[in-house]
Order: sequence, then structure tokens, then C-alpha cells
Amino acid sequence: MKIPFVSLQREANLIKSQLLKSTEKVIDSGNYIMGENLVAFENRFASFVGVKYALGLGNGSDALTLIMKSLDLKSNDEVICPANSFIATAWAIIAAGAKPVFCDVEDDLLISLRHIKNVITKNTKAVIPVHLSGRICEMNKINQYCSERHIYVIEDAAQAIGGKELYSYAGSLGIAAGFSLHPLKNLSIYGDGGVLTTNNYEIYNKAKLLRNHGLRDRDNCILWGFNTRLDELQASYALIKMDYIEEWTEKYISIARKYSEELDENIKRPIIRTTSKDVYHNYIITLDEDIRDVFMKKLLDLGVETKIHYPIPLHLQKCSEKMGYKVGSLPNSERLSKSIVSLPIYHTLKVEEIDHVIKSVNSTFNDLKVK
Ligand SMILES: Cc1ncc(COP(=O)(O)O)c(C=O)c1O
Repeated sequence: MKIPFVSLQREANLIKSQLLKSTEKVIDSGNYIMGENLVAFENRFASFVGVKYALGLGNGSDALTLIMKSLDLKSNDEVICPANSFIATAWAIIAAGAKPVFCDVEDDLLISLRHIKNVITKNTKAVIPVHLSGRICEMNKINQYCSERHIYVIEDAAQAIGGKELYSYAGSLGIAAGFSLHPLKNLSIYGDGGVLTTNNYEIYNKAKLLRNHGLRDRDNCILWGFNTRLDELQASYALIKMDYIEEWTEKYISIARKYSEELDENIKRPIIRTTSKDVYHNYIITLDEDIRDVFMKKLLDLGVETKIHYPIPLHLQKCSEKMGYKVGSLPNSERLSKSIVSLPIYHTLKVEEIDHVIKSVNSTFNDLKVK
């Protein structure tokens, strides 16, 4: 049995006739950018997340960048983000002309108030908790601490559509949030796309201008801005998928629950929580460093493809070289980057494939542990 890490065509096949019908409708409309599909998608997304405003954008990186730009940060202003994330989290801070400050993470790869307190300074203006792998950060605690200090909290919700802290959805848990609609995400389209959500009118208004060159109308430009708009075709696809997101999310969660119940008890694996709804964009286990790479190789021999999210922490990336971080600066992030493995998880996985993953992981783990 061969189980690829992702299988995007399977999902596309489930809704192909809807996608094709929608494609034809958009083509026939003659309106391809900033039309009725974008507005309908934004309204739907905002009401799903439970916020006043949503903006469809060219990608998730730009969603974060436009938020940071809307905060009018200065070059000495520091923005804290976790060291274990996709590079775009830190790029948004750099793109806005501020200074990223990398923060260590807990064993579940999430930033926490405990670690934020270690890196906070008088120059800290914002914190970006990343709901990595669709696991929701401790937003209540972080918000309370930051609001007392007038520090903005921006969610990187790129991987967390449908996730919740208690009863509130990811995307409504900070002053603003960025989502990605990249093909690999839980709500994905057939190209790049992203969404910004907020209840804050100033952020919404400024980001709305920034996504369209800073144009107030066709001829008057009031800000230097970007061209980063979710086009009509992609908005129409995203709109179709909104009908399925709750159902598909439940499937991710049930696969994660099965993994957590049936994987060998000596494998460190996600705890299924009741205080948050984690949506398992990735399902990440942690092994001893000395067996991680050979474990992945042996699993591949058994037909199970795995990945690492992420093998190099942000502070040790080549592009961060001049920031002064050294190996050992953020020990937990560094240790995790050498010991984590992401197992295949997608809502179209079949029961026998899930069973094969579990069986292969358990047997490989036990073989390696015995040696
Ligand atoms: C945590 C995180 N932040 C930001 C992004 C950026 O999203 P996009 O690829 O849509 O620009 C991603 C996407 O990979 C991500 O995983």
C-alpha cells in the first residue's frame, strides 16, 4: 500500500462537477477580479469565523504582511513570533519594517505565555502566535497579558481554519488574523490565496486599500500599496469548499483521535484536548533524535510518506544570519526540529490506509527501539 503525504486530486474529484460549473460561470461573467464571488466569499468567511470583516487576498503571507503594515510599526519595534513556523510568519514582520524576535515553543510546537515572557522587552509592540498544525495557542492567557501592556496580538491562523479556543474560532482570537488558502491547507483552492480577518475597522480599511495599490478609487492613490487580490475563480472555489469545511474538519479530528488512541503509547503524540478544537492540519509525533531520520526512511519503505514541519527553526535559517542567533539560543525549538515527524492526515484517507499508517508506525518504532 502506498500512502502519499498529501493527495489533492482525491478531494478535487469529490467536488469536480461543482468546480467546473463554477469555472464556466465565472468565465462567462467576464468579471475576473474583485467581483461578486469575492464579496460572497468574504461575507461567508467572516460569518464562519465570527468577525465583522474578512478580506480575500493573494496569499496567506500577504494577509499577515498587510496586518503588520496596518499597525504602522517602526524599525525599532519588536514583534515576537515562534521559532518553529513557516518562514512567512517572520517575513510579514520584516516586510512591515519591524524587527522579528524569535521565541521558543512548548513540546507541542506552540508559543506560550511562559516563553513570550522570556523575550518581551520595552520595544515589544506585537506578538504573532501561530496555531501550528491547526493546534490552537493559549490565546486567552496571551491576550490578557498583552492587552495589559498594549501589545497587539495577531494570529497566524494559516493552518487553523475551523479551530477554536473554547467557543471562539481561530481568526477571532486576536486583533487580526491571517489565513492561507494554499493547496496544502485544510480550506484550499487551486492556486494561491489568503484571507485577513478582523473586528478592527482601521486595520480592515487600511488593508483593503493596501491590497489594491492603495487606490481609493480608479484614479486616486492615497497609499503606496500592493496588488494582492483573491481573484474571482479562486474565490468561487473557496466559496464552494466553505460548504464542506465543518464536515471535513471533523474527519481530520477523527483521524487524529484514532492515531492518538492507537499509536504505541511510548511515542510522544498530540493530546486530544477538550478546551480547544484543534483541527490537525498536520499530525506530528516526536521521536528520539537518533532514530528520527531512519524511522522516516523505514516508513517510506512500508509505503508511508512523512514530512517534517519544520526541519530548520526560523532563527537558524540562512536569511536570519545577521540577527545574532546561535545554535542553542532556543533549545526546545532546535531539539524538536530534529525529532518531529508529520504523518499523513487528510479527510480523504481511507480506513485501511489509516490502519496501515498506525501499523507501520508502531512496528517501525518498536524495531528501532529494540536495536
Ligand atoms: C504557519 C504559516 N504561516 C503563513 C503561511 C503563508 O501562507 P501562504 O503560503 O498562503 O502565503 C503558511 C503557509 O504555508 C503557514 O503554514
